[in-house]
Amino acid sequence: MTKIYTVPRGTADILPSESLIWQNIESKARAIFSQFNYKEIRTPLFEETGLFKRSLGQTSDIVNKQLLELVSSKEEGFALRPEGTASIVRAYLENSIDKQENLSKLFYIGPMFRGERPQKGRLRQFNQIGVEVIGPSAESLFIDAEVIVLSMKLLKEFGLDNCRLAINCLGNEDDKKKLSDYLREKLKDKVTALCEDCQNRFERNVFRILDCKNPSCRAVVDGIKLDSAYLSEESKNRYEAIKNILRENKIDFIESPRLVRGLDYYNEIVFEISNANLGSQDAVGAGGRYNKLAEFIGGESKRDIKGIGFSLGIERIILALDETKKQIESNLGVYIISLGQGEVTRRSFEVLTALRNKGISSDMNFQGNSLKSQMRVANKSNAKLAVIIGEDEIKKEVVVLKDMAQGEQFEISIAGNDFNNLFNKVRERL
Ligand code: HAM
Repeated sequence: MTKIYTVPRGTADILPSESLIWQNIESKARAIFSQFNYKEIRTPLFEETGLFKRSLGQTSDIVNKQLLELVSSKEEGFALRPEGTASIVRAYLENSIDKQENLSKLFYIGPMFRGERPQKGRLRQFNQIGVEVIGPSAESLFIDAEVIVLSMKLLKEFGLDNCRLAINCLGNEDDKKKLSDYLREKLKDKVTALCEDCQNRFERNVFRILDCKNPSCRAVVDGIKLDSAYLSEESKNRYEAIKNILRENKIDFIESPRLVRGLDYYNEIVFEISNANLGSQDAVGAGGRYNKLAEFIGGESKRDIKGIGFSLGIERIILALDETKKQIESNLGVYIISLGQGEVTRRSFEVLTALRNKGISSDMNFQGNSLKSQMRVANKSNAKLAVIIGEDEIKKEVVVLKDMAQGEQFEISIAGNDFNNLFNKVRERL
């Protein structure tokens, strides 16, 4: 029996019927990034496995359970990127971008890979739109505010209403240590009540217990008092100031002391954006500050390089969008209905080429079917205008231009191969 191949589990084909919404989201994102003066960066889809282990943390779920490593007979030690931040900081340092500018505002759009158990909204290959602001001058709290404002603006512009922004402050490295000591102290007598994963996390990554979705872990965690007591004065003041800027910018948020994020590189502010239209995988995006990541990757001499960023999951954004917002019109200008064979098709193709050379998006029917059936295809193509060419038109050296929405028709001369009247009328109607 011939094996029938199917798409790998946890991945998806983006079909022509869906690609318009993808293009729409990506082009809106690019326009906003340009307004905010962010420049694109593209890094390879795989990196040395060690980069992810060191950046995201040996104990993070992504490294422990989800890295998709590449096995090759000659070379070993590569993994598909599970996220973009580590690769971008690696590229930033490797190319000494800090020597060229004090602050780099970068964006990226592309696929990420995680070996997760697939479910709705959770894929093994998914796409992110993200930003990273990196550099010796990336310290300002206004940058934290800008990054959060930008994330919310993108989602709004994509048409996603009712997004909920949750924020928290993890403080500096000492504060994080204090918080993890405090959590271990509070949890030490309750370890057996935790799920198996969280029992492992107790030693390895105690923060992660706070956002476990398991009801028994939730019950334990809900009993722990969490406030900003473990934060240094500096982090506390900074956090207050950022919240004030968000209020001034009319960005609604809730404070969520249990929001800790699963990756080791975070400190100071962290945030997550969720949407009620989604089920259990309701995070459409997340981010935070990572002031130590450049040092983790590049060593002691890079400790001045700070950073903050976020990424939004495109599949989840599309899942959360109302159906009406997903109906994007294609932008075909003209559909040529060619009623005949031989000379009619040849002449139609000539008109098609002339329109395309003028930059007018156009297509034609090569089958020479009946007017009715070609009209149906023209309608389906969403073209604004149809140009009808048949034997009669060829004889009279004209074409018929039909406005598909209004139903009006015009006979336009193309005598002497002069298409200018046609171009003008088409432009007027598009
Ligand atoms: P993350 O929270 O792991 O953060 O992922 C960000 C977003 O990517 C999630 O909120 C979700 O929308 C989407 N996402 C993650 N995993 C999947 C999946 N398996 N299937 C579908 N969508 C998914 C990061 O990746 C950090 N690099 C964010 C960041 C940038 N922090 C600082 N800079």
